[in-house]
Amino acid sequence: MKIATVVGARPQFIKAASVSRVLRNDHQEILIHTGQHYDTNMSDIFFDELHIPRPDFHLGIGSGLHGAQTGAILEKVEDVLIRETPDALLVYGDTNSTLAGALAASKLHIPVIHIEAGLRSFNRRMPEEINRVLTDHLSSCLSCPTETAVKNLKAEGITEGVSQDGDVMYDAFLYNLELAKERSTILQTLNLDPKSYILCTIHRAENTDDPARLTQILKALAKISTPVVLPLHPRTRKIVQELGLSSLLEKVKVLEPVGYLDMITLEAQSQKLLTDSGGVQKEAYFAAVPCITMRDETEWVETVDVGWNRLTGADEEKILEAVEMFSPPADRPGIFGDGQAAEHIVATLKNPS
Ligand code: UD1
Ligand code: UDP
Repeated sequence: MKIATVVGARPQFIKAASVSRVLRNDHQEILIHTGQHYDTNMSDIFFDELHIPRPDFHLGIGSGLHGAQTGAILEKVEDVLIRETPDALLVYGDTNSTLAGALAASKLHIPVIHIEAGLRSFNRRMPEEINRVLTDHLSSCLSCPTETAVKNLKAEGITEGVSQDGDVMYDAFLYNLELAKERSTILQTLNLDPKSYILCTIHRAENTDDPARLTQILKALAKISTPVVLPLHPRTRKIVQELGLSSLLEKVKVLEPVGYLDMITLEAQSQKLLTDSGGVQKEAYFAAVPCITMRDETEWVETVDVGWNRLTGADEEKILEAVEMFSPPADRPGIFGDGQAAEHIVATLKNPS
């Protein structure tokens, strides 16, 4: 098959690194980078260190309001699809690039393959929730990472073309952990001893775009006695500056966003992870590091159910209490498959259900 893949945001590059490697053994892939993320350390760094094939098309869309960004991607992906006439379009996750790609393809009657299908937060105020619900309903091949994702789709009447393949981020984590041990020097560069710090990430719109929530989170970070390391998403950096909240980060080791090998090294050696990221919640589980999620709900409910992830919302007291007290059980059952999700996905494409 000739498969057009649309990527645009940081976690999608990491997912594509796992899948493209396997997909290209059996299929012709055309890679379309929308340009939703464009800073070197939000995009190029991942193509370089994970050896992701260079995009065949770079749409250069950049940042914008949801409608403008989604619309611009839709228009340009449509052009490429008309020119390239692929047999299918592949998208990952729940970003504006995901929805725009799926919409462009489905209007051209090109079947959509959605990897990371079926995730739900049941919070329609999240842009990602709108993107994932719509993308799932436009897709004819839906690859679910977890059992819960399959159930969520069933509850919405989607049963055809659904497979449970495991999580492609788990593939990426396992594949790159040994490489990271060999190549990453981030701990030495930052002069950090293993398990002597807490790694934090913040970028979710519900936290960054609500000054009260962001202030609570930053106040909590300012009070944590263990050193906090914060590779800061450009969205958050900009808002912290605009709101004049930088003084709350004086004690925090603020970094530019780091590459994937440095990130998984920092994660694996962190005492606990403090995050509002989807991907980082999962990586905490892969690395057996307790996760504190600064959100009111999560799509990765299994990690909470088994006791390895604690939801605190953006509540300063709850965050601080979890940093001090949260301790997961010894048991850490398999949730995310066998680390061969990409192989299962490519096998399903050969023999669709
Ligand atoms: C997007 C996704 C989110 C995902 C995240 C991964 C949507 C609606 N959101 O959020 O689901 O978790 O990517 O990181 O698609 N910016 C830069 N340089 C960049 C990229 C962004 O400066 O390379 C800044 C711009 O000010 C931009 C802001 O970050 O306006 C937000 O970027 P955007 O891609 O719209 O959303 P994310 O918050 O990155
Ligand atoms: N990540 C990274 N460098 C960073 C922050 C995150 O490589 O500075 C990786 C992280 O390990 C995970 C992915 O980016 O694989 C998560 O992306 P993000 O948190 O931006 O988005 P989400 O998963 O919430 O959609």
